[in-house]
Amino acid sequence: KPVYVLGGPNLNLLGSREPEIYGRDTLEDIHTRLRVLAGDLPLETRQTNHEGELVSWIQEGSAKGAAIILNAAAYTHTSIAVHDALKACTVPVVEVHLSNPAARDAFRQVNYVSPAVKATIAGLGAYGYELALLAAKTLLGQKET
Ligand code: DQA
Repeated sequence: KPVYVLGGPNLNLLGSREPEIYGRDTLEDIHTRLRVLAGDLPLETRQTNHEGELVSWIQEGSAKGAAIILNAAAYTHTSIAVHDALKACTVPVVEVHLSNPAARDAFRQVNYVSPAVKATIAGLGAYGYELALLAAKTLLGQKET
């Protein structure tokens, strides 16, 4: 079973986007590191700026029986469509954020993703993705999710 690593809007700008908040690694840097860690495990690494595309990829990951690592970025705080797609998921989903939204702006305190996922890792920068991959591997090996 594969692991889907899905990223939402503006994550294509990582590396140059507010580096004091999101770090200097590009999304490609992060994905490359995950591919090394994944070894034989198939990884689907994708990013989109479009809400509906993210919804379709979550549905696809679930249909494939994949574990999903999701940074929905700003859609975390706005998207009932992403929430509903996650509720329909029959596979484990680990939410990742580079920053810790709970320690940031008031408008980031609403989160439509967290209540619909297995676990959340936030505030550890790119390292959070590596932890999420470890968790995804373990979760894929379990019967119940
Ligand atoms: C983010 C946090 C979100 O609040 C923000 O909109 C992002 C990135 C993070 O990884 O820290 O785009 O998901």
